[in-house]
Amino acid sequence: MNVQANPEKMNGHHSSVARHGTTEADVSETTGMALEETLLNPRFYTTDFDEMDRIDVTPVRAEWDKLIAQMKSDPNKGHFRKTADWDHVDWDGMEPELKKEFIDFLVSSCTAEFSGCVLYKEMKRRGNNPDICELFSYMSRDEARHAGFINDALREAGIAVNLGFLTKAKKYTYFRPKFIYYATYLSEKIGYARYITIFRHLEANPEHRFHPIFKWFKEWCNDEFSHGEAFALLMRTDPKLTESWQNKLWIKFFLTAVYSTMWVRDHARPRFHEALGVDIAWYDQEVFRKTSTIARQVFPLELDIDHPRWIPNLERMRHAFADMDRAKRAGGVTGKIAGWLAGARAALAFAALYTIPSKKNAVPANVRLEPAY
Ligand SMILES: [Fe+2]
Ligand SMILES: [Fe+2]
Repeated sequence: MNVQANPEKMNGHHSSVARHGTTEADVSETTGMALEETLLNPRFYTTDFDEMDRIDVTPVRAEWDKLIAQMKSDPNKGHFRKTADWDHVDWDGMEPELKKEFIDFLVSSCTAEFSGCVLYKEMKRRGNNPDICELFSYMSRDEARHAGFINDALREAGIAVNLGFLTKAKKYTYFRPKFIYYATYLSEKIGYARYITIFRHLEANPEHRFHPIFKWFKEWCNDEFSHGEAFALLMRTDPKLTESWQNKLWIKFFLTAVYSTMWVRDHARPRFHEALGVDIAWYDQEVFRKTSTIARQVFPLELDIDHPRWIPNLERMRHAFADMDRAKRAGGVTGKIAGWLAGARAALAFAALYTIPSKKNAVPANVRLEPAY
């Protein structure tokens, strides 16, 4: 499913790159991190934009118009600016391991936000359907602000990601529209759950707020919440997307993949979570729980994250990924074989997670939700 995007298809973004005259040689360390292609890193997506353009939102018109009016009113217009609340950050005084993990967190968040921006902007550019174009223009507006704001934080440390270059140089993964709905819906809702869980935790424990950006998370996550609502409505326009047995298997696949990836990634940043005063297993389970509760609005099933096989297999997967990483760095024939073995262990752990019986859910007649956490 991994395809290199056709550069011609992406030419809407070339101008900024050309203007800045960036070449490969200029790629900074953080831009390099954002470019990295691994199973765990945030990706850029492309899809069948013509098929998406044919969506007819008539079945959800009343709820659709309300959501669009709310996005049009742009409640966060002035939010993503540094104010007096932006305390001075002592980057040089930051403990090196924390600094490394925090930068990794910022770069991967920035890449994920910008990935949404690029996909949404492209949909808006290619579409002719006024409903779809309007929605995607508001969503790309929001994601551009989010990515830009994180990049401002990185810029203070002198390590901003070159987003124009990224648009051109990063590989694009092709997903059929329905996979875009499942994956993007989930990533928007999980984004909301992650931001609000950290925000609430730091509200109660402000001594752990080691960087001002966390103060911006509350209004921020409301944008992600609305974006998720839009995808919930899009899925509701075609009942087959969530009701056929094949699609239920796909939904379960995406839920398992997204949750287990988050578990592996978060556990790779122990020092960062320690500084926040957050227990990673608690945090991840809490985010899964919130996301699953929200997703009842549209998904006919949810994962059983309290099942006795859940956490042990997430842990198996995490160790397998760590071993794959080690094998890759070791290199040579032994490294290759060790890598395959670890890869097989990761696949088995994934299969064990995927086969945990899921919980059935009867979706409500009314799809819309408001942020409640
Ligand atoms: Fe965002
Ligand atoms: Fe979003």
